[in-house]
Amino acid sequence: MEDKAINFPLNSTKTNNVNSTTNETVLEIWGRASLQGQVKISGAKNSALAIMAGAILCPTDCRISNIPSLVDIGRMSQILQALGVKLTRNGDILDINARDIVSQEAPYDIVSQLRASFFVIGPLLTRLGVARVPLPGGCAIGARPVDLHVRGLQALGADVMIESGTVLAGVKGRGGRLKGTKIYLDYPSVGATETIMMAATLAEGETIIENAACEPEVVDLANFCCSMGAKIKGAGTQTITIAGVDRLHSTDYSIIPDRIEAGTFLVAGAIANSELVLTHVIPEHLSAVIAKLKEIGCQIRQEDLNCLRIIPGHLRGTNIETLPFPGFPTDLQAQFMALLAVSEGDSLISETVFENRLHHVAELNRMGANIYVKGNHAIVRGVPFLSGAPVQATDLRASAALVLAGIAARGKTVVRGLQHLDRGYENLEGKLRNLGVNLQRVTP
Ligand code: UD1
Repeated sequence: MEDKAINFPLNSTKTNNVNSTTNETVLEIWGRASLQGQVKISGAKNSALAIMAGAILCPTDCRISNIPSLVDIGRMSQILQALGVKLTRNGDILDINARDIVSQEAPYDIVSQLRASFFVIGPLLTRLGVARVPLPGGCAIGARPVDLHVRGLQALGADVMIESGTVLAGVKGRGGRLKGTKIYLDYPSVGATETIMMAATLAEGETIIENAACEPEVVDLANFCCSMGAKIKGAGTQTITIAGVDRLHSTDYSIIPDRIEAGTFLVAGAIANSELVLTHVIPEHLSAVIAKLKEIGCQIRQEDLNCLRIIPGHLRGTNIETLPFPGFPTDLQAQFMALLAVSEGDSLISETVFENRLHHVAELNRMGANIYVKGNHAIVRGVPFLSGAPVQATDLRASAALVLAGIAARGKTVVRGLQHLDRGYENLEGKLRNLGVNLQRVTP
């Protein structure tokens, strides 16, 4: 296939016609089909977004493969282009050249739609000595401040202020270079760990991040940076040490599979009571998820190095608490709630990572689930079946939960708010249809 230069116009970030109430595109699902077959898991969205920002660190060509095709990736591409970065996409391969950064300011209209785009602040600041990035948007799942990112950059010697909704960061003296230091994070934030790690890569001297996030996407970003010549040790543990270098070099790097997409398909198999095979997964990234599926009554078999088979059994309730990795991921909480809604007995789900991430409860209850919310806890009383209904997706993972509920429900479910789904699942409908789900996107 021929290489195509990406051109994402800044005013066309909404790919689907989903915002109008009159002709909004919706997803219709007819539930209770029996599924079978195998599904290939795509590259990890959250790795890809951080690594694309990380490519700013390098003044020469970077090739990144296994990039999923998603609206969020398109938005991050637009941000990089607005900064002057050249991008060429060919299938799942993205070539990035950040030699000529023409602007230190990320455009508000895209940053406001994609929280991960804030991650450009670290690479911009450490490479140019100055960065201006609007406060981010993203899913409506809580306040999601950036104070830990800001405090980390300040500890590295940056002057940071917030003016008119934009974070302005600059390094005075020392040729505009950040200076390594020891940073303790009050909370192991994924984004703050990534921001500080990227900024420290080109800083003078050694930086130690304590209470760092251990998520596989943090490790992937560290591996990507190391492939460009960065000196990072300890990624995947609570202490990451970065020895600053003067310059990074070209790389050719493939990102890890998406553990959240994998978890979503495991739930699809369980909720449809159907045996499925997932390929291109890293089972160690799914330990907590696999443990919970086993408690719920499913068998999970590792068939090959990167291949998992789910064999569902009689579903029973369990308790889940979301936690930083290696704990149970908050990004699979909604999908597991859909599963527990049709599992026998009571379950308690506690959301501890985000303070406002239970919007899907009302929609699941509209489908016949029996879920009661108190604070950040949801008490799920299993029901024998769900009934198809019109439902509204409120955020990315909530929309996946509603699709899963639709797969399990009797009759037709109509999911609205597909702009959330399109942010983070590559070809979800195509993949589900191949497994036997009866669904279609329609514009009335
Ligand atoms: C990343 C993931 C997101 C996932 C989350 C937790 C990306 C693009 N997104 O988001 O899918 O749900 O990790 O696994 O990688 N917090 C602060 N101050 C900060 C930063 C975070 O208080 O400066 C709080 C947040 O409000 C939240 C908690 O820390 O309550 C966790 O956030 P964090 O780990 O930073 O998540 P993100 O990096 O935004």
